[in-house]
Amino acid sequence: MRCLVTGGAGFIGSHAVKRLLDDGHDVLAIDDLSRGHAEAIELLRPRAGGRLAFERCSIQDGDRLGEAVRAFAPDAVLHFAALAYVGESVQIPGRYFAVNVSGMLNVMHACHGVERFVFSSSCATYGQPPDEMIPIPETCPQAPLSPYGRTKLVGEWMLRDCARAQALAGEAVGVAMLRYFNVAGADRSGVLGEDHEPETHLIPLAIDAALGRRDALTIFGSDYPTPDGACVRDYVHVEDLIDAHVAALDALRPGRVLAYNVGSGRGHSVREVVETVGDVVGTPVPTIEGARREGDPPRLFADPSKIERELGWKARSPGLREIVGDAVAWRKAHPNGYSQS
Ligand SMILES: NC(=O)c1ccc[n+]([C@@H]2O[C@H](COP(=O)([O-])OP(=O)(O)OC[C@H]3O[C@@H](n4cnc5c(N)ncnc54)[C@H](O)[C@@H]3O)[C@@H](O)[C@H]2O)c1
Repeated sequence: MRCLVTGGAGFIGSHAVKRLLDDGHDVLAIDDLSRGHAEAIELLRPRAGGRLAFERCSIQDGDRLGEAVRAFAPDAVLHFAALAYVGESVQIPGRYFAVNVSGMLNVMHACHGVERFVFSSSCATYGQPPDEMIPIPETCPQAPLSPYGRTKLVGEWMLRDCARAQALAGEAVGVAMLRYFNVAGADRSGVLGEDHEPETHLIPLAIDAALGRRDALTIFGSDYPTPDGACVRDYVHVEDLIDAHVAALDALRPGRVLAYNVGSGRGHSVREVVETVGDVVGTPVPTIEGARREGDPPRLFADPSKIERELGWKARSPGLREIVGDAVAWRKAHPNGYSQS
């Protein structure tokens, strides 16, 4: 297949590019490198045998995007490009809507007629689910609490509405919306990892704090109604997440509209993650107790049974320790992230 990967130089997108190349596909990765790394793409070239093209282009530039997509003529698109920080989205919502909604509309327009479209949605579209909806099924009402979550929900609506209209016009396409939970870990072969600037994700922050490369880690809130008072989240290994994309691509047929949670189904508290990082690194993570953050739901973890039942996908990773282990291995081997690869 010929696969277009937007955001292909980012954390998850680069792992997708690697997997698609390893599976024998041709890939065009598009990224404006605002948060991604050209080095990640370069590291993948040796395994590509000429099947990897990269275009530095913003999805906000509809004309250039359209030209690149027409020239490549993809069979499938995996749309990862987005701004992805909840806190930042509260400060600059307009920018989030511009990239995540208008930019996505450009991608959809450029890819009109492409038969398979896989979209990175998020558990942030659920907001704060009621207690009886945890673990969270796909039928949980989507009521996002942040501009970021709202941009992802609008993305889902755009895809559904356009897929329906195209089917009515006799041009049916297949679309899949994958609602990721907390994606973590690193490529098991050690080539790719997670390197964000600024970093906001718990596992890389905790690792760098344990390695003495950052100040103490703040634990936001110790009085949540959870067993140890800290927030509980669902961590999914990035390679398992990419397996879910491959399963969705295989399942997509014209006229199919799929929506799945992609999580491990296991909830881990922030303290549990911090302890696991300390154990794996061999040095405890220095921590500071902080106040709750507004809009942080106490417990979020997936009911992933729908994707298991329908696509046969299940997180392969045995658990948090392995996810942390792969992330630690990459951080130790790349003390300055990609800039020292
Ligand atoms: N990481 C998670 O836990 C998580 C959870 C839920 C959903 N998601 C979604 O998964 C996708 C990938 O997330 P990630 O963690 O790899 O983030 P990331 O920031 O590492 O990757 C996003 C990529 O998109 C690129 N990009 C941003 N704006 C662009 C633009 N205007 N034009 C072209 N490229 C642009 C960035 O340079 C970056 O390489 C995002 O859509 C995100 O919302 C991530």
